[in-house]
Amino acid sequence: MSLTKTGLPKDFLWGGAVAAHQLEGAYNVGGKGLSVADVMTAAGTHDERKITAGVQAGEFYPNHQGIDFYHQYPQDVKLFAEMGFKCFRTSIAWSRIFPQGDELEPNEAGLAFYDRLFDECRKYHIEPVVTLSHFEMPYHLVTQYGGFRSRKVVTFFTRFAKAVFERYQDKVKYWLTFNEINNQSNYDRAFTLFTNSGIQVAPDEDAEEVMYQAGHYEVVASSLAVQIGHQINPDFQIGAMIAMSPVYPATDKPKDVLKAQRAMQARFWFSDVQVEGTYPTWLTQYFDAKGYQLDITKADLANLKRGKVDYLGFSYYMSFATAAREHEDPQFSYNESRDLVTNTYVPQSDWGWQVDPEGLRYSLNWLNDRYHLPLFIVENGIGAIDQLTADHQVHDDYRIKYLHDHIEQMELAIKEDGVPVMGYTPWSAIDIVSASTGQLSKRYGFIYVDRNDDGSGSLARYKKDSFYWYQHVIATNGEDLDPVGGGVHAASSN
Ligand code: BG6
Repeated sequence: MSLTKTGLPKDFLWGGAVAAHQLEGAYNVGGKGLSVADVMTAAGTHDERKITAGVQAGEFYPNHQGIDFYHQYPQDVKLFAEMGFKCFRTSIAWSRIFPQGDELEPNEAGLAFYDRLFDECRKYHIEPVVTLSHFEMPYHLVTQYGGFRSRKVVTFFTRFAKAVFERYQDKVKYWLTFNEINNQSNYDRAFTLFTNSGIQVAPDEDAEEVMYQAGHYEVVASSLAVQIGHQINPDFQIGAMIAMSPVYPATDKPKDVLKAQRAMQARFWFSDVQVEGTYPTWLTQYFDAKGYQLDITKADLANLKRGKVDYLGFSYYMSFATAAREHEDPQFSYNESRDLVTNTYVPQSDWGWQVDPEGLRYSLNWLNDRYHLPLFIVENGIGAIDQLTADHQVHDDYRIKYLHDHIEQMELAIKEDGVPVMGYTPWSAIDIVSASTGQLSKRYGFIYVDRNDDGSGSLARYKKDSFYWYQHVIATNGEDLDPVGGGVHAASSN
């Protein structure tokens, strides 16, 4: 392999990432059914989104319109090409293909939309990187089956996976099964269990046990998808996808260190199973100690071994820290909603996310040591309030700094530590609806979209300073990370 000064291969996959439900809009067009994202309202900066029982009159659902990518994708893909993207990570909205989720045959209009999108990418030699399930399960599977509480949903998911693998076998090579499958290790947060698994927990239920059962069905579904995909096209690269937020001990007290170790085990058992094909010993012991009687069959365990992933995709936004509490067994009582503490050594974004570029190098090394698989950074970025000037510019030097510092650490991990990284797709290619808050004003993109939190705005697109900066980074294959031209560019609308 021929390497550049930064240690990056010449065919390094630079690009950008999004998810279908956050930008497509057209929530009821082309036969699409409702998804879990379609019944979530918008929230403020520090609130949780409300989950309503179906679509209710008088409520505002920001994903229904997104940024209208469903209709405007040709101009957006053209802008991605102008930035020099080698790849584009998006997801397929499951409810476009199987509107209810439990049909036997896919919806042709939904399949045809992704044909058009992938063809448009290929026109510019942009490789699609496609997530099968990115927080957008058909809502009918929630109301009818309780989401991934039910083993039946494994069958529906694999039917969906088979349909899209067959349809796009010559257009898509890189796949990811479940987006941030490990987010739900934070089981006390209603948002994560709902978006990952379509589950709402009753007050008298043990949310942790519910999460382990759903998580098990999902790792099995993932392993089946890997097997089906490889049969359809042996060249497919099918990865797992986790949210990589390393959990540091708050101090060097041994109990804090033990607690942080357990926190890492609890966050990353999903990828342990998807990569290794077996459950870690601590977790089977833990199930016994807790008295959990999970539905895990011998056939499941055999499938996990047969359906190991080809690579590991992960998002990296921030690091966490945890501290042990008085009078507890730190390895038996980790609960993410309760046990994270503020790391005073790193700054925070406006949404309280701890910004820690060196944590990315740490993460790359930790994942490489643990899994020995190619790694793909499929999300990394900062949500910020951007100001559009009167002449349609956005001077987002804070975004450039965030990405600059993280790419620098990635390159150190590759060059100095020998970590195999396949590519880098920052979040997000273009401004989209925030997953956690439903805000448009929590912007991540290189391209500004004129849309406000209440849905008003012209939807016009404008290039930010970071657009030109990233274009230059890609053109130099990551060798020059410095801002170009003082960050001032002619206004542009497309
Ligand atoms: C990840 C998700 O959690 O982070 C994305 O995969 C999400 O869907 C991104 O948008 C940023 O989070 P948020 O909540 O700020 O949109």
